[in-house]
Amino acid sequence: MSHKSVNGKVKTAVLISGGGSNMVALVQAAQDPGFPAEIVLVISNRPGAGGITKAEDLGVKVLCIDHKNFKTRKQFEQAMDKMLRAHGTELICNAGFMRILSPWFVGSWRGRQLNIHPSLLPKFKGLHTHERAIEAGESEHGCTIHYVDEGMDTGKIIAQAKVKVLPDDTKETLAARVLKAEHKLYPQILMQIASEKPPTQN
Ligand code: GRF
Repeated sequence: MSHKSVNGKVKTAVLISGGGSNMVALVQAAQDPGFPAEIVLVISNRPGAGGITKAEDLGVKVLCIDHKNFKTRKQFEQAMDKMLRAHGTELICNAGFMRILSPWFVGSWRGRQLNIHPSLLPKFKGLHTHERAIEAGESEHGCTIHYVDEGMDTGKIIAQAKVKVLPDDTKETLAARVLKAEHKLYPQILMQIASEKPPTQN
């Protein structure tokens, strides 16, 4: 079985919690008629996320599923899962989605959920990656796209993009350089994955 649906495009959902600039990059890439994936749904778990209006402006279906409205993580994830399935989602791209996902959700979408992380994994898992890369004296930093597994930023690596760390970099200047690389890499990898058969295992 492949990711492809009847119109030949892989139905892709994007999960966000914040500004959504990676989501915008994915949506804009997918607007090309020849792109092998279509963004069928954006979900934000935060009502105030800047990405919500950006998705609306791009004419993409966006839902806010506020995790605070649910008693348990599982109930929140079940609500997301239901909407993902209702939209025929075949592939999920996490893009600045800041909730830890349970083994139940991860298992349900195994091999069909990607994440972008702002470091060259396995270095700097977790938060504050740019600051930590500077403090560690790294000369190279970057971003990683990986499959989501039960760990934090531990899933199988699909691709990385490197940027230089410059001597006068602050965490902000470095973050901006990495983000630019993210916006290039994520659409490229979505294109690649959507053009291929899904991996059989994560
Ligand atoms: C990106 O740096 C991404 O790698 C990280 O969170 C940031 C999200 O930025 N997971 P945006 O919401 O896509 O602008």
